[in-house]
Amino acid sequence: MNPRKLFVTTALPYANGALHIGHIMEYIQADIWVRFQRLLGHTVHFVSADDAHGAPIMIAAEKAGVSPQEFVARIGASRAPTLQGFGIAFDHWHSTDSPENVELSQRIYMRLRENELIAIRPVEQLYDPVKGMFLADRYVKGQCPNCGAPDQYGDSCEVCGAVYSATELKNPYSVLSGAKPELRTSEHYFFALSDPRCTEFLSDWTQGGRLQPEVANKAREWLEGERGLADWDISRDAPYFGIPIPDAPGKFFYVWLDAPIGYLASLKAYCALRGWNFETVLSDPLVEQIHFIGKDIIYFHTLFWPAMLKFAGAPFKVPDRVYVHGFITVSGEKMSKSRGTGIDPLRYLELGLNPDWLRYYIAAKLNSHVEDIDFNAEDFTARINSDLVGKFVNIASRASHFVLKNFEGALADVLSAGVAGAGSILRLFQARADELAQLYEAREFGKVMRETMALADIANEWFDARRPWELAKSQDPAARQQLHEVCSVAINLFRLLMIYLAPVLPSLARRAEAFLRIAPLDWSQARGLLPGAHRIAPYEHLTGRVDPKTLAALFEPPSPAARAAEVKTSSPAARATEVEASEVATAKAPAPVAAPTIGIEEFAKIDLRVARITAAEVIDGSDRLLKLTLDVGEARPRQVFAGIKSAYQPADLVGRLTVVVANLAPRKMKFGLSEGMVLAASDEHGNRPGLFLLDPDPGAHPGMRVK
Ligand code: MSP
Ligand code: ZN
Repeated sequence: MNPRKLFVTTALPYANGALHIGHIMEYIQADIWVRFQRLLGHTVHFVSADDAHGAPIMIAAEKAGVSPQEFVARIGASRAPTLQGFGIAFDHWHSTDSPENVELSQRIYMRLRENELIAIRPVEQLYDPVKGMFLADRYVKGQCPNCGAPDQYGDSCEVCGAVYSATELKNPYSVLSGAKPELRTSEHYFFALSDPRCTEFLSDWTQGGRLQPEVANKAREWLEGERGLADWDISRDAPYFGIPIPDAPGKFFYVWLDAPIGYLASLKAYCALRGWNFETVLSDPLVEQIHFIGKDIIYFHTLFWPAMLKFAGAPFKVPDRVYVHGFITVSGEKMSKSRGTGIDPLRYLELGLNPDWLRYYIAAKLNSHVEDIDFNAEDFTARINSDLVGKFVNIASRASHFVLKNFEGALADVLSAGVAGAGSILRLFQARADELAQLYEAREFGKVMRETMALADIANEWFDARRPWELAKSQDPAARQQLHEVCSVAINLFRLLMIYLAPVLPSLARRAEAFLRIAPLDWSQARGLLPGAHRIAPYEHLTGRVDPKTLAALFEPPSPAARAAEVKTSSPAARATEVEASEVATAKAPAPVAAPTIGIEEFAKIDLRVARITAAEVIDGSDRLLKLTLDVGEARPRQVFAGIKSAYQPADLVGRLTVVVANLAPRKMKFGLSEGMVLAASDEHGNRPGLFLLDPDPGAHPGMRVK
């Protein structure tokens, strides 16, 4: 086997809110594929980044009272717990607001200009006379010019997928001010996609077998549509948070120009960290460049992006594959990408739900097509409890029980086993490795899960048919030998299934390796078996069952306090921040029975600090919240919104110490960014009114860790 070299990316999430379940689904899909490739021994550079630029982020930052750079830096800093929590093995996470991206974007643009593919034309553009700025596409709404759907943004239609320019919208209005936009003229820069060189190249590239059939068809419709490909407007006028266009004062690249270049910027930063030459890696003809994306951004990735790369020339290369997935819905409910969805990934982790469960569930639903999938709580519980635990993990727990009790954890030599059918079932399981590998390669993860669960059924039936519990009662040496062999075969079958499931279940695989006392699994090990006399470790619970109560908590509506703080406006700036605001600052103590047990490591993840309240203010428009300024022993004070107005006068708070959760991801709220949470006690059921802010004994200093 020739080791492959793969450069794999996921779409860059907008840096204006927490990662939602749609992002996580995409990362899980890509991560499973990447882990599979690594298990085969291939080299993968797996990178992503925050998509930092554009008007929505600029405006969200303005509202939060911080610079856009600071705003996106905070979002970037909040990614790690979610990514690590779900076992997403990115090699590097970068930002499009980075020196690498500025340099690469300007370089690619200059190459396009040298190739005479940049055109400059005056454009009549919508201008908000109230706000005093040209309106970015997403700040204009109206009817889709293609299908007539109402309330569509000015760049593309969420209903039919058409891409157009804002001036083509019917009955437009500014979503910033509600004003009817005026047409004004400004000079714009275009990527000349209508140039025959581009259309010719794209016809070949999109129809050359690299894309999923339904994606290639979509691209052909766009290419061969009545209007053909229009030139693409790649400039925006100041004020804009973006990368300056060389030799064009006051003009910036449209965010979608520099966003995909962010894939390369992330790779470049990663290469620098590893001491590799970026251009050597990028231009290596053996490196396959593969992008995982969702169905809403096909146009950008199958037309604009390959054309940009093609006409920028070496060291840039066109993508080898673009793998498109559908959308995830929750309990059948559609959600728009800017509104996020019913399940908060961080909450999932905080509730102690096992990340491998979600990975398994999503894997079980995915295939190679652009199909939507649904998260359904009952279905989730059933698949985890009856398949993953009831079928797969069960093999290990039942067989190891006898091996540990009767044979001190040592296995019998299964190769010379006399028990009926041992050789054939082991060979059957081993023989599936190639077929399952092909299914992983083709992203047919649902099929892999179904096939491995069918094998798990066969393993359980085989085990039960040999009645080990009866054999265990006998003192007859032949019966004991049989028991030993039956259980040892079952443990080997479990190990083979673990190899096949390892890309999906990384943390379960680590536990299984410890239990089996084996080196890290890889795909080639499916050819081997555990040798006779190999000792396994005492069985420790590999994964538990889903507790429906805990799962139900995932779907509980946010607290009334959080609802009070929710942004009610439909302005895109507010929507773009994906406000969830569940962090309103009363930490309610649940009844002891309600909270699942956590380990000390989980508690240690919470960075509690002593804080001094240096200022407290009421907020216009909120009857629950106070705005607190906190000294947490850092260079800069923090701003936190706390739902304690009913219990405290601002003046009484100034100067006092309290306790703050210092590493809570910053959250954009209606009134600004909240950078932590202060702790207060209250009665969940409202039997005892009142709210009691925690404070340390005198003598504590701001910044001290609370443990
Ligand atoms: N910033 C752009 C991508 C730039 S890539 C050079 C963007 N960001 S996004 O945050 O809106 O979406 C990021 C990815 O998440 C996209 O691939 C998108 O399709 C995916 N998803 C967003 N919502 C989704 C679901 N509900 N389900 C599955 N994936 C979805 O687009
Ligand atoms: Zn439409």
